[in-house]
Amino acid sequence: MTDLRTPAVIVNFKVYSQVEGEGALRLANTCAAVAEESGVSIAVCPPMPELSLVARDASIPVFSQNVSPRKPGSGTGYTTPSAVKATGAFGTLINHSENRQPAADVGACVDMCHALGVCTCVCAESVEKAKELAAFSPKMVAVEPPELIGGYISVTTANPRIVQDTVAAVEAVDPKVAVLCGAGVKTGQDVKTAIDLGAKGVLLASGVVKAADPEAVLRDLIRYI
Ligand code: G3P
Repeated sequence: MTDLRTPAVIVNFKVYSQVEGEGALRLANTCAAVAEESGVSIAVCPPMPELSLVARDASIPVFSQNVSPRKPGSGTGYTTPSAVKATGAFGTLINHSENRQPAADVGACVDMCHALGVCTCVCAESVEKAKELAAFSPKMVAVEPPELIGGYISVTTANPRIVQDTVAAVEAVDPKVAVLCGAGVKTGQDVKTAIDLGAKGVLLASGVVKAADPEAVLRDLIRYI
């Protein structure tokens, strides 16, 4: 487990075919190499079946893609905060747009994770939701308009206002919570714009995972940081 500084680039591998099995570790190692040569903080979120493998072998902060507010015990198919901790992962996403949870569960996940020293990045689809979930004091809130996820127009171009407004709204609730933005982020210019808008980094997926040359994309992503 290593530390995560801001500005941060968090690469969510989702469940793309490119990152099944050993592919997850290969891409995590590529991210780690670019992080090391550039000094920029890059974290990865491998698919759940590869979480242990990547958390154990990659020299980069690793996040679970999801967690449930459950204690160890019965709960077939769930991932507990305790299990995330046991993999050696640094943190976890919570409430991703593709895996939403009720607000009360988000709060419970944040508390359970922090009690175990697991970093939290809570996703929100709107300024209002970001404000609501910031009240749980996660380490990070990532605002991602669902309609832009997986697309070719970055949130920083299509809706810069949502980034600025989320930064202001979250700051008013809890200034210690870092705001990230995501959806359609693909280039270094997108990352620069995100930071200029007040974000402390980005959460992205397809731009890296589906790229023909992920290393080249990663180098471009961090060029202005
Ligand atoms: O978790 C990151 C995400 O939902 C954005 O995906 O493919 O638009 O970068 P993408």
